Amino acid sequence: MVLLFIEWNKGNINFKNTTFWVLAIFFVLFEYMAVSFQAFVLKKFGETKTTVMFVSTGVIISILAAAILPPSLAFLIPLIGYLFLRLKIIFSRNYYYFLFNVSSLGIITYVTSKYLHFAFGYFGNNLFVSTIFLIIGSVIYFLLNIGFTITFLFALYEKISKEIVDFVIGEGKLFNILSTAINALIVYVLYTYIGLFAVPLSLFTFLTIQLGNYYATKYRNSKIELLTALSKSIEEKDPYTAGHGEKVSEIAVKIAEKFGLPKRDIELIKAAGLFHDIGKIGVPGLIILKKGKLTEEEYMIMKEHPKKGFEILKQINEFEDTVAKWVLYHHERWDGNGYPEGLKGEEIPIQARILTIADVYHALISDRPYRAALSREEALKIIEQESGKLFDPQLAKILIELVREGII
Ligand SMILES: [Fe+2]
Repeated sequence: MVLLFIEWNKGNINFKNTTFWVLAIFFVLFEYMAVSFQAFVLKKFGETKTTVMFVSTGVIISILAAAILPPSLAFLIPLIGYLFLRLKIIFSRNYYYFLFNVSSLGIITYVTSKYLHFAFGYFGNNLFVSTIFLIIGSVIYFLLNIGFTITFLFALYEKISKEIVDFVIGEGKLFNILSTAINALIVYVLYTYIGLFAVPLSLFTFLTIQLGNYYATKYRNSKIELLTALSKSIEEKDPYTAGHGEKVSEIAVKIAEKFGLPKRDIELIKAAGLFHDIGKIGVPGLIILKKGKLTEEEYMIMKEHPKKGFEILKQINEFEDTVAKWVLYHHERWDGNGYPEGLKGEEIPIQARILTIADVYHALISDRPYRAALSREEALKIIEQESGKLFDPQLAKILIELVREGII
């Protein structure tokens, strides 16, 4: 408001500028399309399963406006844009979110624009030089944005928690910032050649790429749903193992969190827990359901299931070097006497070691055809005995702590 007042008084605001109105219309149009697309994807998949990347078209247009319009007009672009898009929120109780958003974006665009005009004016209009300045401009834009958002959230909650920092600059967000900056650069360079036509041309391309991402995600998720159904159907064959995958998954996630594995690994461990015995699809039901001891031959067939699981899971690209590998090694032993490769100690990926201990612990506290479920204390005794033999001692310690604290 203050900025608007100052610039208005200076007579710097000239609404007869066509470029300004064209950009404002594009801002509303593309932001509206992007937001409805995003809402559609989130409704379909829920937040956790979505790997679709959202490029903010509003930000791209704001950066372009900062570069080609005078600062006094550039900062009005997000203002006018959001006035149209979020008209409802102004009259709701959350109007301060709107005020914060609009005023911070206005100020950020203004500062970025001042900087760009100074830099362009000082160093002339060489395209190569200006693209470098535009990249720096984008960085300034995002740094200010992050700074403002953290300050606002701090004022709202009176503390900065890990969640807040994650929310503002968490994993994936930085990548989004980078791709938005690159896209802004592309629009700008195109603009210098073909004028304003560059905006719809490139933004339609970005939205199409996002649509492509959406279908790729949809395809991948349908594969995962199929695997989930498959592994459930294997568990259901045997009443003793129904729900085992889910429990192993829960236990493994808690161990991984306490061990301090990164968030992305934890998401994948969750999947690995669910699918760890999916390779049993290739083992005859007679062997899986057999009550007595397996013959040597039957045992050899049973021992193939990690390899079969690997073959199935590597079909999903992002699982090939992660989930599939961990499932392959979930019957390896710390002392090197496991299968299929007889890996030893830290040769076994940490995620696979976590699966092993979660799998065995849950099997111990569940009923089996040949014995009743063990109590927690009895199970922990076995975990302790096997520490350094079957299990990684550090993980055995973590599991025992988690059970004693009542977390598992
Ligand atoms: Fe297994």
